[in-house]
Amino acid sequence: MIDVEKIRKDFPMYNEHQGLFQGKKLIYLDNSATTFKPYQVIDAINHYYKDITSNVRRGDYSLAHEADVAYENARKKVAKFINADESECIFTSGDTMGLNMISYFALSFLNDGDEIVLSYEEHASNVLPWFKIAKITNAKIKYIPLDEHGKITVENFKSVLSSKTKIVSLATVSNILAHPVPTKELVKLTHSVNAIYIDDGAQAVPHMKYDVKDLDLDFLVFSGHKMLGPTGIGVLYGKRELLEKMDPLFFGGEMNTRFKKDGSFSLEELPWRLEAGTQNIAGALGLAASIDYLENIGFDNIERHEKELKKRAVELLKENKNIIIYNPEDDSPILSFNVKDVFSQDVATYLSSKGIFVRSGNHCSKLINNVLSDEMSVRASFYIYNSLDDVDELSKHLEHAEDFLDAFFL
Ligand SMILES: Cc1ncc(COP(=O)(O)O)c(C=O)c1O
Repeated sequence: MIDVEKIRKDFPMYNEHQGLFQGKKLIYLDNSATTFKPYQVIDAINHYYKDITSNVRRGDYSLAHEADVAYENARKKVAKFINADESECIFTSGDTMGLNMISYFALSFLNDGDEIVLSYEEHASNVLPWFKIAKITNAKIKYIPLDEHGKITVENFKSVLSSKTKIVSLATVSNILAHPVPTKELVKLTHSVNAIYIDDGAQAVPHMKYDVKDLDLDFLVFSGHKMLGPTGIGVLYGKRELLEKMDPLFFGGEMNTRFKKDGSFSLEELPWRLEAGTQNIAGALGLAASIDYLENIGFDNIERHEKELKKRAVELLKENKNIIIYNPEDDSPILSFNVKDVFSQDVATYLSSKGIFVRSGNHCSKLINNVLSDEMSVRASFYIYNSLDDVDELSKHLEHAEDFLDAFFL
């Protein structure tokens, strides 16, 4: 089981401020946007800057060797974490960069009339790169119809899959409705038409055990900052045979082995051929520390804890007749809702005045407006350091929902 009080001692955002922010009890419920960082992660970042600063893959001196070893050990950690080979794990600046690298790769094989399958739930980072690529190649984007709960079902997926499908790019857990997608089945179906499956793992990898081999994923992308790691670091996993065909989006730095004045050049082996320029070395070390931290707690415990928080939140908020919950059914640690007749950003601002921090608006997923009855919503998202007490506070303050507008115009 998770001991929230003990965990909070590892997080300076709680520990160094007596659990307060601007004099109020800190109730941070925007973990889908980014998470707090424990000392262990901050120490790993500091270790690079304080003890082993030097560039990687360039220096022939012992200090550079230390940095090389630390950087590659971080990659080993990532590879083991998702059950991949090290050569298949590319460090990126984050999920968005990974998706852009893959969509750029798609330029090399997409043709007029080919189809890219997305859903209405996808984040801008998994939509806009495809809009761009579809425009250049004349490929067509197809959206999986969602069922009445906003879920992607196998049957609905089948309805858009065809021999023209070349790419399927979906979040296993989306950032608003967050119904887990039956990824394994969808991957199998995708492969049956010889298409490539890309898993946007931004909201899934921080919360559940991942095994890219078991899922048979072609690509997986995720960000460190949503799993207790630093900002500016992420991972692009790809099957080796695909990464080998992938043209780098960026060129320069130590990703080449040689180049000549006649314009010819050769590239490094994987994974380095896809990491141009000086990398976020401290970020990689921080990400490795975040993986250690999460694995020490254990994903079974994390999932159990988040399930408990979500269950309590649904139970309490359901009692409030002024609240519409959009995704009460499953265990994902994201709760999306609205207060009837109140603009979602007003709800968030009101809650903020009570020290409760939630996200509001359209959350970078502007296509979901086709599905939700309201364009905007409020999102509370939980993580390991949230307590049942946080949920109770959220619910307590939402009880006065009908007073929100009055509160603003007083
Ligand atoms: C589902 C999903 N995909 C992609 C992203 C983009 O992640 P990042 O901003 O870390 O690149 C997010 C961020 O919220 C997300 O929720």
